[in-house]
Amino acid sequence: MATLEQTDGPADGHSGDGTRRRDFINIAAVSFAGIGAATVLIPLVNQMNPSADVLALASIEVDLAAIKPGQAIKTSWRKQPVFIRNLMPKEIAEANAVDASSLRDPATLAERTKEGHNNWLITMGVCTHLGCVPLGAGEGEARGDFGGYFCPCHGSHYDTAARIRKGPAPLNLHVPDYAFKSDTVVQIG
Ligand code: FES
Repeated sequence: MATLEQTDGPADGHSGDGTRRRDFINIAAVSFAGIGAATVLIPLVNQMNPSADVLALASIEVDLAAIKPGQAIKTSWRKQPVFIRNLMPKEIAEANAVDASSLRDPATLAERTKEGHNNWLITMGVCTHLGCVPLGAGEGEARGDFGGYFCPCHGSHYDTAARIRKGPAPLNLHVPDYAFKSDTVVQIG
C-alpha cells in the first residue's frame, strides 16, 4: 500500500525506486475515490432492481375454464385491467365479415388472437382515447353499436375483435403478450 510518509529520498522529489512522491499522493487519492464511488453505486443498483411484488406482477396465469361462450371477465395485470372474452361463433363471424383494410386501425380477428383459439379475445381494458375502462366485459354492461366494448367517456365503440369502429379512440384495444399454457390456461406477460 502506498504511504504518504516523508522519506529521505533525493531532493528532486523521487523516492529510492524512482517513483515520485506526487504519484503516491495521486494513487492514494484515486483509490479513495474508487472506494467512495463503489459505496454510492451499490445502493443505487439495489434501488434499480425490481422489487419482489413487481416481479410477481410481471406475468399472470388465468384459468379460462369457467368463462362460457358469450361471457367475458376482467382481470388485472401490471395494475391495469385486462378483458378476456370467449367469443360466440356469431361474434367471430361478425368480426370476420368486416374488411379489415377499411378500419381505422386495420387488423383481422386472426391477427388479434392465437391460432386455434380464435374464440379467446384477450385485450387490455384501457380505451385508447384517454385511458378510461370501457364497458362490455361485465355482466349486462353496454357493448356499444358493434357488440364489443363501449367507452362512455367520449363515446368510443369497439367491435367483437375489440377494434375501434366509432368515436374518438385512435386505436384498437391493445392485445398484450400472452401464450396458452394449456387449452384452458393462459399466461399473460
Ligand atoms: S377515454 Fe374512451 S372515449 Fe375517451
